[in-house]
Amino acid sequence: MEQTAESVSLCSISRPEILPYANRRSASRGARPRWRMAPARAMFPAMSDRTPPSSADPQQPASGAAPSGAEGNWFGFTPVDPSAKSGLVRAVFDSVATNYDLMNDLMSGGIHRLWKDTLMDLVAPKPDMTLLDVAGGTGDIAFRFLKRGGGAAVVCDITEAMVRVGRDRAVDRNILSGVQWTVGDAERLPIASRSVDAYTIAFGLRNVTRIDEAIKEAHRVLKPGGKFYCLEFSHVVLPVLRKLYDVYSFQVLPFMGRMVAKDEASYRYLAESIRRFPPQADLAKRIEAAGFGAVRVRNLSGGIAAIHSGWRI
Ligand SMILES: C[S@@+](CC[C@H](N)C(=O)[O-])C[C@H]1O[C@@H](n2cnc3c(N)ncnc32)[C@H](O)[C@@H]1O
Repeated sequence: MEQTAESVSLCSISRPEILPYANRRSASRGARPRWRMAPARAMFPAMSDRTPPSSADPQQPASGAAPSGAEGNWFGFTPVDPSAKSGLVRAVFDSVATNYDLMNDLMSGGIHRLWKDTLMDLVAPKPDMTLLDVAGGTGDIAFRFLKRGGGAAVVCDITEAMVRVGRDRAVDRNILSGVQWTVGDAERLPIASRSVDAYTIAFGLRNVTRIDEAIKEAHRVLKPGGKFYCLEFSHVVLPVLRKLYDVYSFQVLPFMGRMVAKDEASYRYLAESIRRFPPQADLAKRIEAAGFGAVRVRNLSGGIAAIHSGWRI
């Protein structure tokens, strides 16, 4: 059955306006069944077969990030057609949705909670504020926003399974109003222009096919004077930490994925997609290029994650 915004909503809030579902169908949606049926090994070649990006590769910046604007050509370290990427990403989050919150705590030792709290310190929720949390998944950011006195939140995520887990968590926490759940793509948001005070995207931008399109969409939906925030895994700035983090990402994470979630491939994708994400300064430039002002970067835990922010002017 086709998913509609209404069927995943818990409540109706007057703003921001959620547009009809027909406006937000992903062009690549048709690719999904093919990728979902592919065996995991075909989707994710064994680690030993893969070539992590190298600074000797003239196509790649030293960090291993994909060249600016070319993120859609990569699914982790695997080259893909951009039209297939969002289907692959949805397959990952379909697969991890039920274990997502448990795995987040296990993998980060709970640190993701502190990073999300720091993001919320910057957002500084107020009762008259509306938040759009894109790639909002199971609702961590929206729940924090409401708990700290924010007015209304919309969670928008491309993976229906994640939204459903989030909606169930809201019910478990007795959050029956103030948050609206919708399925949609960050690159074509089902949200009216100039309708939200704050836009957040936490650990989501890395998965988007066309990062610049998503940032432009953030600019479109924000009211003038509104603020953009991106919390994302980033590039470690301390050399000693970088080596340890590489071992952790490429050895420990996939192992934990296999043992706990029975899904090694999705957690290998996590490590690879982080390496492909633009370094802090490059992403800041791209946020500026979309029209945001006073763009700032705040590294968290030595650059393991970073918060980018900018004013919609
Ligand atoms: C790592 S989870 C983050 C969830 C949540 N923001 C959090 O911090 O716990 C990434 C989320 O991004 C969503 N996502 C990936 N690509 C997207 C896109 N193009 N548009 C909207 N959501 C997307 C996935 O479905 C997934 O729920």
